[in-house]
Amino acid sequence: MTVYCDHNAAAPLHAEALAAMLPWLSDGFANPSSIHAAGARARSAVEAARADVAALLGCKPAEVVFTSGGTESNDAALRGALRADPRGAVRRVVTTAIEHASVLATLGDLDDVEIDLLATDDQGRVDPEELQSKLDEPAALVSVGWANNEIGTIQPMEEIAEHCRAAGVRLHTDAVQAVGKIAIDVTATDLATVSAHKIGGPKGIGALYVRRGVTWEPTIRGGSQERSRRAGTENVAAIVGFACAARLSREQLGATHRRLCRLRDELWQRLHSDTSVVRHGPLGDDVLPNTLNVRFAGVRGEALVAALDLDGIAVSSGSACAAGAAEPSHVLIALGLDADTARDGVRFSFGAASSDDDPARIAMATLATVARIRAVRAVA
Ligand SMILES: Cc1ncc(COP(=O)(O)O)c(C=O)c1O
Repeated sequence: MTVYCDHNAAAPLHAEALAAMLPWLSDGFANPSSIHAAGARARSAVEAARADVAALLGCKPAEVVFTSGGTESNDAALRGALRADPRGAVRRVVTTAIEHASVLATLGDLDDVEIDLLATDDQGRVDPEELQSKLDEPAALVSVGWANNEIGTIQPMEEIAEHCRAAGVRLHTDAVQAVGKIAIDVTATDLATVSAHKIGGPKGIGALYVRRGVTWEPTIRGGSQERSRRAGTENVAAIVGFACAARLSREQLGATHRRLCRLRDELWQRLHSDTSVVRHGPLGDDVLPNTLNVRFAGVRGEALVAALDLDGIAVSSGSACAAGAAEPSHVLIALGLDADTARDGVRFSFGAASSDDDPARIAMATLATVARIRAVRAVA
């Protein structure tokens, strides 16, 4: 029996979401912009879906712009905010070194932008006071992820938002990993990124929350879809699947949160029987309920992930997007680890589909694999 413990990379599609999508891939193929009855039905489905996604985010439906996923939403948020900079010549963006690659690479691509990195502590937390003092200088935008995909650190978004509001600086947050795992209200921010496939919806669909009245410009131009904020024919089936997953996430948030905490904590207790194990990221309320990132002294993360895969257990080393690149995790380096040690991180991320038996099964296989890898190294 296989064990899937990589939900931060992708969660399985909810059966209900798949069932909700299928009609829109067959008879319901019409273009939602068409004015005939079939088009109007597709339009109604998109608008009902928008209301469901808005309910999960705590915002108004009109503030939800559907996109092709988290990467596009981050790109649109950052480029769109900087294009419409209310402070004219100010091109300074305050962010952190532990952001997702789609934030850091997009900012890096904008060569007239000054990137000012906010420090994170050894658990990946930002200090709101430091942000406050950085905002004494003019800034165009602050972009801080709500929860980190690799180590699960949750940022104090309310305080961050307060400082941004007080300084009159727009705030973008990548909420891809927070949404559906913890209760969030995006209205504290100006722009927020979400993605369906992390909450049991399909891949290739996401949304950008654009607060009503915020200064921001669309980057994809063409038709007037999404109230001219994102051109392109809507992916109706994916939007409907996203909405279904959003509804389920909202209904099950409390129960899922408690269960995920239990699974994660049980795994940590069991792994702890190897005294060399080190946990990356905070404990308690400052960490996502489903995420545990650890390293075992002298054991390469990639070797452990590959060996566990042979045992039918799917986990990650580094972020999925960087996996295969054999690069040390930029997040672990930002926590203060050297590049060599930063290659040893392994991430376990549970989800709604995880079973109560998973922590025991994963821990047994992990501890046995760690012992085996060390034994081979000892004779080599
Ligand atoms: C924090 C975060 N932001 C953005 C993304 C990109 O989302 P998508 O895969 O929908 O493009 C991911 C995906 O891993 C993520 O974890």
